[in-house]
Amino acid sequence: MEVKIMKVAQLTNFEGSNGIEIKDVEKPKITEGGILVQVHAAGVNPIDWKITHGIMPVTLPMIMGGDFSGTVLEVGANIPNFKVNDEVYGQAPAFAGGAGTFAEFALANANTIALKPINLNFNEAGALPLVGVSALQGLTEHINLQKDQKILIHGGAGGIGSIAIQIAKNIGAHVATTVSPNDMEYIKKLGADEIIDYKSQKFEELLSDYDAVFDCVGKDTYKQSFKVLKKGGIIVSMLEEPDEALMKHYGITSILQQTRVTTKRLDKLTQLVEQGVISVHVEKTFPLDQAAEALYYLEHTPPQGKIVINIKEQL
Ligand SMILES: NC(=O)c1ccc[n+]([C@@H]2O[C@H](COP(=O)([O-])OP(=O)(O)OC[C@H]3O[C@@H](n4cnc5c(N)ncnc54)[C@H](OP(=O)(O)O)[C@@H]3O)[C@@H](O)[C@H]2O)c1
Repeated sequence: MEVKIMKVAQLTNFEGSNGIEIKDVEKPKITEGGILVQVHAAGVNPIDWKITHGIMPVTLPMIMGGDFSGTVLEVGANIPNFKVNDEVYGQAPAFAGGAGTFAEFALANANTIALKPINLNFNEAGALPLVGVSALQGLTEHINLQKDQKILIHGGAGGIGSIAIQIAKNIGAHVATTVSPNDMEYIKKLGADEIIDYKSQKFEELLSDYDAVFDCVGKDTYKQSFKVLKKGGIIVSMLEEPDEALMKHYGITSILQQTRVTTKRLDKLTQLVEQGVISVHVEKTFPLDQAAEALYYLEHTPPQGKIVINIKEQL
């Protein structure tokens, strides 16, 4: 008998993780251009907990979650590249054309998903879409990082930073990164050349003549980063609007990245994962019933790598 009801984690008010309720709602229906998936795992990103505090206008109640991995159940009309039972990963946030992924089933737009890397389990694949595409887009499209260039990656132990270090090393760049003291050992394994403890050291006094900065932290870290770059260098920030005065003063290009998860970028990510370039570290998983706890955890305890909501038990 066809299942028509599904369990979801819904945001019902903007009181942080207290605004999350676990509910039964109607399963989404297939649409033209859409792919209906059974969700196996959903990665948790900072944007998810930020939304619970009302950082952007969304219509409530809203099913939470953007990232997911899962199995295709139904394919909308005129979508030749996916079929029933394909194992996929990607994005389906309710505020951007999807149905939300902290749910047993999700409706995704076909151009924001791809076949999941075969060497990742569902938890690892569900953790990767937003952070993996952010790192790939930043390093290869905006910075256009080249072999032997020097790059500083802020927030190296976080979701985006940990993937960015691995991509930068694969390109052949010299990589410095800033992390907290607890994360030093974890980061050594990812291959960074210089690891700076941002709590006791000032990166701007240690580094100079860098070609690029990839900023996953923002605020003063963004502003101080201009000092480590050579003239003509570039800062791509995940958080900060370009500071025109600093750009002019130091002769630097600065970009605020807007990550767009697309099939094309996910396919490139899949290739890098399957070649062994990128590994994904899932620090902790939560069941769907504890989606609020997962959001609270990510907001208050920056993990090494990723936090994932495991929705379908993995065999
Ligand atoms: N613009 C876009 O399209 C876009 C897309 C995706 C994400 N983002 C944003 O990008 C940011 C990073 O995302 P993420 O998923 O990588 O977050 P994350 O997993 O929370 O990682 C952030 C990392 O930064 C570290 N950190 C905090 N303060 C630091 C400092 N002063 N110096 C160095 N490291 C520091 C944190 O660990 P410790 O506190 O333990 O040091 C944590 O490891 C988030 O704010 C997110 O919302 C923007």
